[in-house]
Amino acid sequence: MASYDVIVIGAGAAGLFCAAQAAQRGRRVLVLDHAKRIGGKILMSGGGRCNFTNMYAAPENYLSGNPHFCKSALSRYTQWDFIALVADYDIAYHEKTLGQLFCDDSAKAILKMLLSECDKAGVQLRHPVEVRQTEKTDNGFSLITSHGDFDCQSLVIASGGLSIPKLGASPFGYKVAEQFGLNVLPTRAGLVPFTLHEQDKSVLAELSGVSLDATAECHHTSFHENILFTHRGLSGPAVLQISSYWQPGENVVFNLSPSEDLLGSLEQQQQQHPDVLLSTALAKYYPKRFVQVAIDYFVLNNKPLKQFKGRQLHQVAEAFEQWVLKPNGTEGYRTAEVTLGGVDTDELSSKTMESKNVPGLYFIGEVMDVTGWLGGYNFQWAWSSGWVAGQVV
Ligand code: FDA
Repeated sequence: MASYDVIVIGAGAAGLFCAAQAAQRGRRVLVLDHAKRIGGKILMSGGGRCNFTNMYAAPENYLSGNPHFCKSALSRYTQWDFIALVADYDIAYHEKTLGQLFCDDSAKAILKMLLSECDKAGVQLRHPVEVRQTEKTDNGFSLITSHGDFDCQSLVIASGGLSIPKLGASPFGYKVAEQFGLNVLPTRAGLVPFTLHEQDKSVLAELSGVSLDATAECHHTSFHENILFTHRGLSGPAVLQISSYWQPGENVVFNLSPSEDLLGSLEQQQQQHPDVLLSTALAKYYPKRFVQVAIDYFVLNNKPLKQFKGRQLHQVAEAFEQWVLKPNGTEGYRTAEVTLGGVDTDELSSKTMESKNVPGLYFIGEVMDVTGWLGGYNFQWAWSSGWVAGQVV
């Protein structure tokens, strides 16, 4: 049986970063992953350019049963620490929007950097390896795998969540947590497009490809970014963001005129161009294709502006500014960027990510119940949680 100080299961963002930190402290570290090709999510992230952190990352950008849990790790290993590392490796990057930092060239540079950090410190990496059994021993843990048996003092579970099974996602981490008696909170897909009920889809599917500036609101949380109509439903950053706050059966309220006083503008047009049709007036603010469909969908009367009496123009503006939609569901883990829920943070130390009841057992990254917004926050959690565990394993 080969012995290591630390075994990390999962060679994703959190696992590789933690392994490098631990090995740089002189620990003998083995990383195991069941995937043929590692770093799949890193390579796919940010449209191939990896949105590796966010300049404004703060605890408020994370969802968790315990919103305070992420504070310690985020403050001990910050976005600026990771940005400094990226700069050390001469990886060129830029801010796309809202503090989101992307590689100029390719996400490959981030994966290469993580592998180089591991390599430099002597981390051993084996994949594809199937971990068949994990047991507690007197001094730590023993593992039975498709590559033989191993033991270690510290076992770090960095196997991520359930999103994108074709990139190697599995419930492994939740099963290990349950095996050792840790509570696992229900999981669901987050940062995921909405699907629509047939009556909405039959009209809105025609808009596939149309993108609008909007706010999306649910549970008093609101995001102002773009929404995108797709042939299956609704996507785009504002929709992905709000999907993490949405529960099945609930409504989402969209304001399709978040920066413009639509009523004021329509009233002005009514005075200046009374014979203009509503559709022509709306085409000033929206793509023509959208206006045609929206008039049918919101059951508006496409008549000259002068014929809108009393509160009728208010009702038009309201239709666009307070569009209440009940999504049918989400596209689920097949396309979700993250998994909400997971290993209950009440079971873990916020300083080290170690289990409170099973000494030597650690959970880092997405497998636990800490989920970031869209925009580099999830990688920052992988780095911060991986780093703090890496100092003590
Ligand atoms: P991650 O999922 O990265 O790694 C888990 C590893 O464990 C994988 O290598 C997997 O193969 C392995 N594993 C799983 N089960 C196993 C088992 N049974 N045995 C052995 N190994 C096992 N975030 C962000 O901040 N910016 C971005 O730009 C994006 N973009 C993005 C795009 C897409 C398409 C997705 C799906 C996700 C993102 N994300 C993102 C989210 C981000 O990728 C995610 O939160 C982190 O990768 C989580 O890092 P972890 O290391 O925790 O898990």
